[in-house]
Amino acid sequence: MNCYYKCRNSIIHFFYTRLLKPILFLFDPEDIHNLFLKVGSFLGRFGLTRWKTKILFGYKNPKLSQKVLGINFENPIGLSAGFDKDIVLTNIISSVGFGFEEVGSVTAKAYEGNPRPRLWRLPKTKSLGVWFGLKTKGAKVLSKELSQKIRRLPIGVNIAFTNCKENLDISSAIPDYVSGFMMMEKYADYLTINLSCPNTSGGMPFLVPENYEKLMIEIDKIPTRKPIFVKISPDMSHEDIDMFLEISAKHRMHGIICSNLTKKFDISKIKDPIPPHGGLSGKLVFPKALDLLSYMYKKVGNKYIFIFCGGIFSANDAYKVIRQGATLMELITGMIFEGPQVISEINRGLVERLTRDGFKNISEAIGIDNQ
Ligand SMILES: Cc1cc2nc3c(=O)[nH]c(=O)nc-3n(C[C@H](O)[C@H](O)[C@H](O)COP(=O)(O)O)c2cc1C
Repeated sequence: MNCYYKCRNSIIHFFYTRLLKPILFLFDPEDIHNLFLKVGSFLGRFGLTRWKTKILFGYKNPKLSQKVLGINFENPIGLSAGFDKDIVLTNIISSVGFGFEEVGSVTAKAYEGNPRPRLWRLPKTKSLGVWFGLKTKGAKVLSKELSQKIRRLPIGVNIAFTNCKENLDISSAIPDYVSGFMMMEKYADYLTINLSCPNTSGGMPFLVPENYEKLMIEIDKIPTRKPIFVKISPDMSHEDIDMFLEISAKHRMHGIICSNLTKKFDISKIKDPIPPHGGLSGKLVFPKALDLLSYMYKKVGNKYIFIFCGGIFSANDAYKVIRQGATLMELITGMIFEGPQVISEINRGLVERLTRDGFKNISEAIGIDNQ
C-alpha cells in the first residue's frame, strides 16, 4: 500500500510541477488563488467529487492521529491561515489529505484589503510575497458561514484586529479583537490570536510586550473553554521571545503558532525580484521559525502545544520540526510550489520515518531531539 501511495503521489507531482504549474504561473497569483478557491468549493459540495478527490489525494494512518487539547487530529498537517479567508474550503480540505484547517484571518469588521497587486511568487526562492492587509468579509458574515458547515475535521479560527484607522490606537484595537473573538468562538474548535500580520497600517503593535499584556487581560475575561493559540512573528529575537513567554505564562494560552510571514530577510538569499510591499513566506521563514521553536521548546517543553508554520515542503522538514518540539504544523507555500499531493506525501513520509525509528505514534517523537 505504501508503494501505491508513493507512486500515485510521484505521478501527480510530475503532472503538477511539469505541466500544470508552468501554465498556472503565467497568470496573476491572486487570480489563480481565486480559481483554486472556486474549484475547491465546487468539489466540496458533492459526495462524489469529495470521494474522487480523496482517491487522488487521501492518506490515512493511525500512527499520525493524536488527541490534542481535547481535539482529535487525524494527521498533523493543517492548511494555514490566509488561504481560506472566506471559509469556502472546509468541505474539501479533509479529502485533500489535511488533518485540520485554520480559517481567516477574521476581523470584527469587513475590510476589502490593500489594493492589488498584493500577492507575488518568488519561484527561485520558494517563497510568496503577501500584502493582503487582512482582507476579510468580517466576523458577522463569517460566523454565519462557519455555523452552517458540516464538521469533517478540526477548524481553527485565526482572529486579528480590523485593519482600519481607528485601530491605530490600541485602546480601539483591543475591543475589536475581543469582538471578533466572541463572534467566532462558538463555531471554532480552537482560536488563534494573530499578533503578527506584517501588513496592517499600524505594523504589529501587539508584539510590544505592554500591548500584548493588555490584550491578554481582556482575552482572559472571555468565557470560553476553547483552546487559545497565539501566532508570533519569525522576526522576533530570543529576548522578545523571553518577554512573550513571561507574559503568556500569566494568561490563558494553550499553544503557540510559530510563525507568520517574515519582514526581515537577508537580501542575498532572495533570488527573485523583491515585491514592493508585504511579508515573505516559505523557505525564507523555515530556518527562523525552526530556531524560535527550538528555543521555546527547550525553555518550556510541553507546557504549550507548538504548531510549526513556515516553509514546510517535505516529510524531512516535517519530521525535523516534530523532533524539535512541534505537535502539529501548517502550510500554504509548499502546496503551491509542490502541488496538493504534498500533504499526503508528507504524511506518508512521516509514517515511514516514525516506523524506521521505532515510534508507534507521532506523539512519541515530539521534541525528541530537543530535550
Ligand atoms: C496568501 C497568503 C495569505 C496569508 N494571510 C494570512 C492571514 O490572513 N493571517 C495569518 O495569520 N497568516 C497569513 N498568512 C501567513 C501564513 O498563514 C503562514 O504563516 C505563512 O505563509 C508561512 O507558511 P508557509 O511558508 O507554509 O506559507 C498568509 C500567507 C499567504 C501565503
